[in-house]
Amino acid sequence: MEKIVICGKRPLNGTVRMASMKNAALPIIFATVLVGERCIIKDLPDVSDINLSLEILVQMGAVCERNGRETMIDTSSIDPDTDIPLELVKKMRASYYLVGALLGRYQKARVGYPGGCDFGTRPIDQHLKCFSALGAKADVVGGYIVADAPDGLYGSHIFFDAVSVGATVNAILTAACAEGMTVIERPAREPHIVALANFLNACGANISGAGTDSIKIRGVKKLHGTLDGEMIPDMIEAGTFMAAVAATGGKVTIENVIPKHVESITAKLIEMGVTVETDEDNETVTVERDPDKDLSRIMVKALPYPGFPTDMQPQICALTCFAKGTSYVSEGVWDNRFRYVEELIRMGAHILVEGKTAVIEGGYVLKGTEVTAVDLRGGAAMVIAGLASEGVTAIDNIDLIKRGYDDIVGKMKGLGADIRLVTFPDT
Ligand code: EPZ
Repeated sequence: MEKIVICGKRPLNGTVRMASMKNAALPIIFATVLVGERCIIKDLPDVSDINLSLEILVQMGAVCERNGRETMIDTSSIDPDTDIPLELVKKMRASYYLVGALLGRYQKARVGYPGGCDFGTRPIDQHLKCFSALGAKADVVGGYIVADAPDGLYGSHIFFDAVSVGATVNAILTAACAEGMTVIERPAREPHIVALANFLNACGANISGAGTDSIKIRGVKKLHGTLDGEMIPDMIEAGTFMAAVAATGGKVTIENVIPKHVESITAKLIEMGVTVETDEDNETVTVERDPDKDLSRIMVKALPYPGFPTDMQPQICALTCFAKGTSYVSEGVWDNRFRYVEELIRMGAHILVEGKTAVIEGGYVLKGTEVTAVDLRGGAAMVIAGLASEGVTAIDNIDLIKRGYDDIVGKMKGLGADIRLVTFPDT
């Protein structure tokens, strides 16, 4: 079994480059199924969720070739009726983007019910709602999402009841080639939605308003491949490194980041007394904290973009353990995203979770011990806690961290952390 082992209390210093954003890359990878021609995508991150999604496409008959910075995906000869093994689709959430992509191209889809991190219930009612609104019959049958539009797909007015990244992606994929105009009201506004729209527009789609409160899609008959699929930097990876520097102290310049995307994180770190600066060209963010200066308490609520990202909620909670006073971290997206808190308590943190709010009594000394990555970002929170704690922290279940972080160990080590991957015999 592999673990991340950290000897804490070393400041981070230097420069680190962020990978592309997993949650933007996933919709684009599955969008190539809708495109149906050869696409070249640049700078896919080397994380297991991306490799898994490429494996799913290969199982369906696609050709996927990684060549340096470029990945070629050709979905022209996929078999839409492929029964992808359930154990593959259940390893991630984004596999359900296949439903929108297959429905858009073949007017039918049958895809195993997806898995993903455990945050309590993760309904798909808004996905089913958008498939139906566009003319398909869609439901969950025996562990599969099944959708069928024998009479074709037709543009429609969709008003989402919940702001959902996944349902917005599926609505865009289903509507891009539907007949007529689709308007999506109350869509998710995350940068990854804009990235998906830009990619599909580069393939001949007609999508406007992504990133705003209303997305308009004029359906086109056919899409074409592109040789220029661009990725965006991973704002959550950047936020994780920003929080790590705030926790340990030191000075780190983060490259390949869009400062606007991390604005809500920057604002909270500044409130805590951390210096965060953007360079003149708006291309890097430098985070600096004097380790001898106390961090101030904060109140944070995780919300859909442009609010503070829920995917940074565990990392900021870990950081507040090192701040003076009582901090409040509320979750405004998921029912239960505090399973990692018990692991922080194991290290000596004083945290009480009341409903959807964690109350953190900061300033207690945290000491390293054996902890678990309960999910992807919960695992990142343990890395931050380990880096800033006394003694040795050993994190297991790290496959969950590898789902979304491209070489977190190597990058932290490059900044001066005493961190390594260690293989232990299985017990
Ligand atoms: C995406 O999940 C991300 N995953 C998650 O990141 C992220 O936490 C989440 O968006 C919110 O930002 C990917 O992009 C692969 P949602 P998704 O649909 O799309 C409710 C990470 O750490 N909802 O936006 O599955 C739902 O219950 C991962 O990288 C419905 O009610 O999330 C939740 O409360 C974890 N009905 C809220 O919407 C639906 O049909 C947001 O969920 C769908 C969602």
